[in-house]
Amino acid sequence: MRRAAITDLATTRRSRPNITYWQADLHDVAGTGRYDFVLSLLTLHHVPDLHAALSHIKTLLAPGGRAALMDIYPPESGLRPQQALRRIVHRLVPLKPRLHALAVQKLSVNLVRRGPATAWEIYRLSTRRDWLDHRVTDRFFSRDELERNCHSLFPGYRFDILGGPRGIGLVWDAPSSTAAGNPMPVTEMPSADVQRPTR
Ligand SMILES: C[S@@+](CC[C@H](N)C(=O)[O-])C[C@H]1O[C@@H](n2cnc3c(N)ncnc32)[C@H](O)[C@@H]1O
Repeated sequence: MRRAAITDLATTRRSRPNITYWQADLHDVAGTGRYDFVLSLLTLHHVPDLHAALSHIKTLLAPGGRAALMDIYPPESGLRPQQALRRIVHRLVPLKPRLHALAVQKLSVNLVRRGPATAWEIYRLSTRRDWLDHRVTDRFFSRDELERNCHSLFPGYRFDILGGPRGIGLVWDAPSSTAAGNPMPVTEMPSADVQRPTR
């Protein structure tokens, strides 16, 4: 789905008087200290500079505001021959041709398993330029890299492994203005995927 179509859909289906949907690079979201809540879902593994992105998110939080960050990191690469071979192929062949090859391989499997119409649709969607452009921006960070950055930026943050070995959840509460340097305790996670300006 086109990016603009997603915000159109959200505006149509989930319209609320206190919610504005818009699209922007996270670095272009302005408003130092303006937000009570910043939620990032599966986005940080696309940013070229994790530290810069996390620093920017921190600046957006109002005193006492909360950041909730959810993402995934790749499994640790092992030393088994299969993985070593895969690493060599990855170095030699750029990602887009590899994804194309994978799509062709899946097409033949899906022709048998799911029939020609579904198999073709899966192939068509998985080789669309938008999708491939999206995939090449994957720059998965390691758990160590995330933790290193968070230690310096988010003192007292809470870190959880979510729904399997690769899901990471991080919650940080900015100090309230009356207790600067003394982060508020983490309580219940908010359920809404909302950026709500405080003013
Ligand atoms: C894997 S998708 C996740 C989408 C959605 N958050 C979800 O959980 O279903 C990654 C999203 O990150 C967005 N993205 C990548 N880099 C970004 C950036 N610098 N600023 C804002 N969004 C970004 C992409 O446009 C894409 O929509």
